[in-house]
Amino acid sequence: MPITNSAKLMDGRALARRMLEATRVKVEKIQASAGVTPTLATVLVGDDRASATYVRMKRKRCEDVGMKSLALELPLGTTTSQLVAEVKKLADDAAVHGILVQHPVPAPIDKRAAFEMIPVDKDVDGVTSATLGRVILGMPAFPSCTPAGIMQLLREYNVELDGAHAIVIGRSPILGRPMASMLINAQATVTLCHSRTRSLPSLVRNADVVIAAVGKPRFVRGGWIKVGAVVIDAGYNEGNVGDVDFEGALEPASLITPVPGGVGPMTIATLIDHTAEAAARQVGVPL
Ligand SMILES: NC(=O)c1ccc[n+]([C@@H]2O[C@H](COP(=O)([O-])OP(=O)(O)OC[C@H]3O[C@@H](n4cnc5c(N)ncnc54)[C@H](OP(=O)(O)O)[C@@H]3O)[C@@H](O)[C@H]2O)c1
Repeated sequence: MPITNSAKLMDGRALARRMLEATRVKVEKIQASAGVTPTLATVLVGDDRASATYVRMKRKRCEDVGMKSLALELPLGTTTSQLVAEVKKLADDAAVHGILVQHPVPAPIDKRAAFEMIPVDKDVDGVTSATLGRVILGMPAFPSCTPAGIMQLLREYNVELDGAHAIVIGRSPILGRPMASMLINAQATVTLCHSRTRSLPSLVRNADVVIAAVGKPRFVRGGWIKVGAVVIDAGYNEGNVGDVDFEGALEPASLITPVPGGVGPMTIATLIDHTAEAAARQVGVPL
């Protein structure tokens, strides 16, 4: 029988657990020093079940580390100006340290208008144009949680990014774009791909690090992966399926994130940590 290589799994669940433990220590310090409990406000518009589940999970993680969460639920049919007004109230509320507007926000709401009401220091989900600009420039900010969580995973597994060729498939404002910027700032050479990209398989074949953020189940085929590449699957599709053909990629890859248990838990842990950090800065507690 031929001896086949099999990639090592990048355990996002375990790393997220350690991160949450560290966040809990930060929360205790903020409470002890300033008598303040870090608080995340979540805003959910409409009745999308998946979005409601995500918000519940995020609120549960807040509780787990001793933080507070405040849930604002708005009905389908909420207008852009109503949503903007609600976000503005949270922005002005000193007891709220982080604001998360759960996306997707139902059409025809202009979600960008609502995001832009979040002040940078409360933008713990990294959705504003100001935050994205700061991320591109490598300035302090709370970057979008999924790419930030992926960078943590890459650091944890000592993935060499300096001079590496990284490919990011997907260019959304919350995932592909900030991901590409963070990799560039870590000295990688980055190819950013999207639905109009030509010859995607051959581009992927040249990459040392592959980040799949497409939103299409098993889109990235195992045969595209260069031997020894690191494969990060940010995708989350129905039935616990990622954007990468996991079984096919296991053999060529050196490291790979499972779905579930890879990027997903890191996203939430990053959000929770950002909220504690935001609270610390707002109340002047050095961590
Ligand atoms: N684990 C987590 O916590 C987490 C968080 C957020 C998102 N996700 C997952 O990550 C994935 C991406 O999310 P998103 O919000 O970034 O999605 P999105 O806004 O729908 O963006 C998808 C991107 O993929 C590109 N794309 C679509 N078809 C393509 C093709 N045939 N070839 C190359 N690129 C193609 C699109 O290109 P165009 O720009 O040209 O349309 C777009 O840039 C989804 O599976 C989502 O569920 C996971």
